[in-house]
Amino acid sequence: MTAEEYIKDKLTKTCPCTQVTRLKIKEAIAGGADSLDKIKQATGAMTGCCKGRRCRGSIEEMLKDSKNE
Ligand code: FES
Repeated sequence: MTAEEYIKDKLTKTCPCTQVTRLKIKEAIAGGADSLDKIKQATGAMTGCCKGRRCRGSIEEMLKDSKNE
């Protein structure tokens, strides 16, 4: 990951309800979270007031991408 990508991921709130960043999601996936439930447990994403309605799709996409790499 380039420095630019790192900064962008650190500033991007993938789950705005809980302020969980794209970087935190990536770190959770790299740390072995291989399902939405595990990512939820590791980061708290998808536990905000919308219960994942706004962020689940993006997180699913990131998970799918990580499995294709
Ligand atoms: S945006 Fe993630 S729980 Fe609402």
